[in-house]
Amino acid sequence: MKIIGTGSALPKKVVTNDMLTEFYDTSDEWIQARTGIVTRRIMTDESLLDLAITAAQRALEASGLKAEELDYILCSNVNNNYVFPSLSSMVQGKIGATCPCMDIRNACAGFVYVMDLADMYIKTGRAKRILLLTAEEPTRFCSWKQRETSVLFGDGAAAAVVEEGGEYLGARVTTICNTEVLYQRRRLEPTPFEVEGVYIDQPMVMQGREVFRMAVTNCSKEISTLLEDTGYKIEDVKFFLLHQANMRIIKGIEQYLGGKPEQFPTTVQKYGNTSSASMAILLDELVRENRIERDDLLVMSGFGAGFTTGSCMLKY
Ligand code: UT7
Repeated sequence: MKIIGTGSALPKKVVTNDMLTEFYDTSDEWIQARTGIVTRRIMTDESLLDLAITAAQRALEASGLKAEELDYILCSNVNNNYVFPSLSSMVQGKIGATCPCMDIRNACAGFVYVMDLADMYIKTGRAKRILLLTAEEPTRFCSWKQRETSVLFGDGAAAAVVEEGGEYLGARVTTICNTEVLYQRRRLEPTPFEVEGVYIDQPMVMQGREVFRMAVTNCSKEISTLLEDTGYKIEDVKFFLLHQANMRIIKGIEQYLGGKPEQFPTTVQKYGNTSSASMAILLDELVRENRIERDDLLVMSGFGAGFTTGSCMLKY
């Protein structure tokens, strides 16, 4: 599998750390020191569907393919206004595609999971050209009364078109059942049989320090194993595209692996944590800035609720 086009779309509203001090007791100093985040983009009059469509169209345009030539749309999305149909089904008709579509909901690591699924569809000959999509609005699953979580997130979407050929060298995906460290519970429609107190509506709950620890430990370990399995060394890798959650997490993984800072590009300072969209937005930015050349070795690695990790290696 190889990537033949990328695209992304971000909301126009730029929210600075200082703007957040209007809502709760926080400061630019605290946010920058603990997370590296300076600004984030938050949706106002856009919808997530708008962003997803724009990202998909940009990736298609860059690939030179027409939407009708796609064999599948695989999408990573945690939440949007619709429980069903899938976000990818809604995007499909708007961009003029006619292929089957599927969404996966695997939190921030989701983009690596759709990449890995795409590789399997292509390897088995079931599909030749696939649109990988990710669109996330995490600013709508955290509480805007909680400074611990809402300072971290931003919204965004990104896409990549992949086709057969190229070298997708390997992947490692893991799930550790540790659902208490990161979750959001949503109340469903009540039934006449519901027992009071059973269904809870609750914004995101996060044990930040524990998520931080698991992220650094597990991603570092998985990337090291992926390198061992494929026979490559740290210095062979042009870029490690890590989930953009916190600059300190990225630095922690960089230090564990013993890589150079320039191998770990970041967007977290500009966009905050855009959940599973973060790695794909970063990929698109590097491609558009001509910082990635054909055959450059890339490692992508993300982590998220579950607790899940997903890491993969490919030649661009
Ligand atoms: O995609 C995955 C999603 N989640 C993550 O990636 C989160 C991973 N974890 C983290 O990024 C970090 O744990 C945080 C950024 C969430 C927190 O940083 P920390 O260094 O672990 O801080 P802490 O939770 O230990 O809190 C330190 C202090 C606390 O005050 P006390 O108890 O020491 O008096 C917090 O109440 O900072 C306080 N605090 C804040 N202060 C100002 C927490 N949030 C804020 C805030 N502004 N926004």
